[in-house]
Formats: sequence, C-alpha cells, structure tokens
Amino acid sequence: MEQLKREVRQCTKCPLSASRTHAVPGEGPEDARVLFIGEAPGKNEDRQGRPFVGRAGAILDELLASIGLARGDVYITNIVKCRPPGNRDPAAGEIEACSGYLDRQLDLIAPAVVVTLGRFAMQAMFRRSGVEAGSIGEERGTVHRVGDLALIPVYHPAAAIYDPNKKDVLLEDFRTLRSVIDGNA
Ligand code: URA
Ligand code: SF4
Repeated sequence: MEQLKREVRQCTKCPLSASRTHAVPGEGPEDARVLFIGEAPGKNEDRQGRPFVGRAGAILDELLASIGLARGDVYITNIVKCRPPGNRDPAAGEIEACSGYLDRQLDLIAPAVVVTLGRFAMQAMFRRSGVEAGSIGEERGTVHRVGDLALIPVYHPAAAIYDPNKKDVLLEDFRTLRSVIDGNA
C-alpha cells in the first residue's frame, strides 16, 4: 500500500499531473470492510493531499456519524487521484489512466462493501463489475451483489450542500449501508 501511494504521488500518467499540487491516493485502515469512492480531489484535498477534507468531507463525516462510524473505520479514495482544474468533471481518458490504482486498492483492501459517492464513481464501479447502470437517481440506495461484494451507489455528499432533500436521501441510504454492514440487508 505504501508503494502504491508513492506511485500515485509521483504519477504522470495523465494530464492532471501537471496542474495538481498534491495527488490524493486515499486513506484509511488497509483492512477496512467498507470502501468509499468519490469523484476527484477538490481544492482543499489538492492542498492537503487527503481525501474529503472540505465541505463535502464535513457532510461525509456527518453521514458516517449518523450510523455510528468514524472516518478511521473506513477507507476513502477517489476515481481519479488528482484534482481536475477548476473542479471540472474528470475526462474519460483520465478515469481510464487512473483506474489501475483503484484496481490495486480494491485488491489490497478487499472490502466487503463499496459505497460509490456520485455518478462518476457509480459508473466506474458498475462498468468494472459488469452491472448494467441506470441513472444515479434510480440506483442510489440499491444494494448490488457482485460476487462477495455489496456495491451501494449513493449521491455525492456535495449534492447535499444546497439541497436538503438530497441530505435526507443520503441519510436514508446510509441506514441501508448500516443494515448491510450488520448483515441484515
Ligand atoms: N469530492 C470528492 O469527490 N472527493 C474528494 O476527495 C473531495 C470532494
Ligand atoms: Fe496519475 Fe491518476 Fe493523477 Fe492522472 S489522476 S496523474 S493517472 S494519479
């Protein structure tokens, strides 16, 4: 894992390497049962080299706390490890270039549950798992079983910043996550 993080920090496999300050490999216990996958680092994450440390991160912490989890209980990473300039969407080529790191993280951590945050992470995990993807509005909160893995797409926490309804939906979907962790769903 340390080797992987070093490779990410030095990576120049896609153009995002030119504009980043810090690559953000991800963090959490290497034996975490739950892996969260976001979209890409934002401004604060790029500055600090850590995932979800800005406003979306504060919401993620709140959602975790709502089901009795702390950040240290879970692994958190992103589909692309470097910040797209101006927080634009990651390009298909960038997602593809970065995908090998996520593959290795999935192998090393071997989580029981993967929670994708937002549309891009959902699409990337569905593609890799061979699951036919609906829209995030249709899929969020639904538990997909892929072999031994439970895959749960949810809205991106940043969606709740300006939309209280999304916050309620996220809270509901985190209760589903709690049930899956407890083996009841
Ligand atoms: N949004 C993301 O998708 N990832 C982060 O790490 C921070 C904000
Ligand atoms: Fe490398 Fe991924 Fe960063 Fe692109 S986004 S430079 S592939 S670590």
